[in-house]
Amino acid sequence: MSIKTVISGTGHFIPPKIVTNFDLEKLFNTSDKWIQQRTGIKERHYAEPGTGTSDLAYQASLKAIKSAEIDKTEIEFIIAATLSPDHYFPGIGVQVQAKLGLSNIGALDIRNQCSGFIYALSVADQYIKTGTYKKILLVAAEVQSSNLDYSDKGRDMAVLFGDGGGAVILEPGIDSDRSILSTHLFSDGNNVKKLWMETPSSKEKPTFSYDMIDSKRCYPKMNGRYVFINAVEKMPEAVWAALKHNNLTIDDVDHLIPHQANDRISLMVAKKLGIPVPKVIRNISRFGNTTAASIPIALDEALLEGRIKKGDIIVLTAFGSGFTWGSAVIRW
Ligand code: UT7
Repeated sequence: MSIKTVISGTGHFIPPKIVTNFDLEKLFNTSDKWIQQRTGIKERHYAEPGTGTSDLAYQASLKAIKSAEIDKTEIEFIIAATLSPDHYFPGIGVQVQAKLGLSNIGALDIRNQCSGFIYALSVADQYIKTGTYKKILLVAAEVQSSNLDYSDKGRDMAVLFGDGGGAVILEPGIDSDRSILSTHLFSDGNNVKKLWMETPSSKEKPTFSYDMIDSKRCYPKMNGRYVFINAVEKMPEAVWAALKHNNLTIDDVDHLIPHQANDRISLMVAKKLGIPVPKVIRNISRFGNTTAASIPIALDEALLEGRIKKGDIIVLTAFGSGFTWGSAVIRW
């Protein structure tokens, strides 16, 4: 008898406010044409002031709980992934816990940016397989719109990112056909400065200062081309490692859900892997890059659209700040 991890429920929540490329044209020197050609993004959603990442996470969690047909009091552990917590500390895990009205359970925050969902899935998988917990809420959410540089200097980043949340419920399945088959995690900390938010920083005294705002060091920054080149190399490598581990070929894969970083990246990853484009789940045109939340949002949308059928093989892959990257294989 072996315990396997099953995703028993999914949910996502996107804040209602839509921000189009044309809206951004009014803020800095960019164009709808450039953004669509270079990224595939048409619009993204922004949370209103007063709405934090934990609020989006909470809404996505409620939907996943409903979809799993469980009572929230059955949740034994929460794992939350984000790069944009409501506060410098504590993380959003405890806030989601409080919003759900749950007490006496653990809440863990994962800091792995775009790979956050896959890292969190890997952690949850171990807890379920070892019998530690029987119902885990894994939620990933971001509010990034509140800290982007909406000037010409920050336009490369400002056009990419959006807000949203996605969640899953994980449970044990005894000798279940449906399960997480594997997770593979990788990182390379030599590239910290290629995609980072330098400040606030514990290295500086004080941790927060007006200079950080004046010098724009408080905004996320990226060497876009360098990140792009690494993303299209590392995501296929992570998928190949996963396929080899599971004795699968690319023909066995029914759906590829890449982290929605840039549609050109997703299409290039698909080409390298030799997977037909219709098997690639892509929603970046409507949501932009929602970092840790992008994979669970795309998974939930694909399920709601009826694209994913029982028994399908789903491969997830992500790459981002750290650098961190990884893959997961799920038999649905
Ligand atoms: O999710 C985490 C991981 N993140 C990613 O994976 C993102 C990876 N990188 C990218 O997606 C792309 O590198 C970007 C979308 C950020 C940029 O696209 P690119 O094709 O790599 O453009 P580039 O940085 O090479 O810039 C090309 C030109 C530059 O002008 P010059 O120097 O050729 O005159 C930029 O200044 O495009 C200019 N540019 C813009 N123009 C209009 C950069 N951003 C913009 C903009 N609107 N928003």
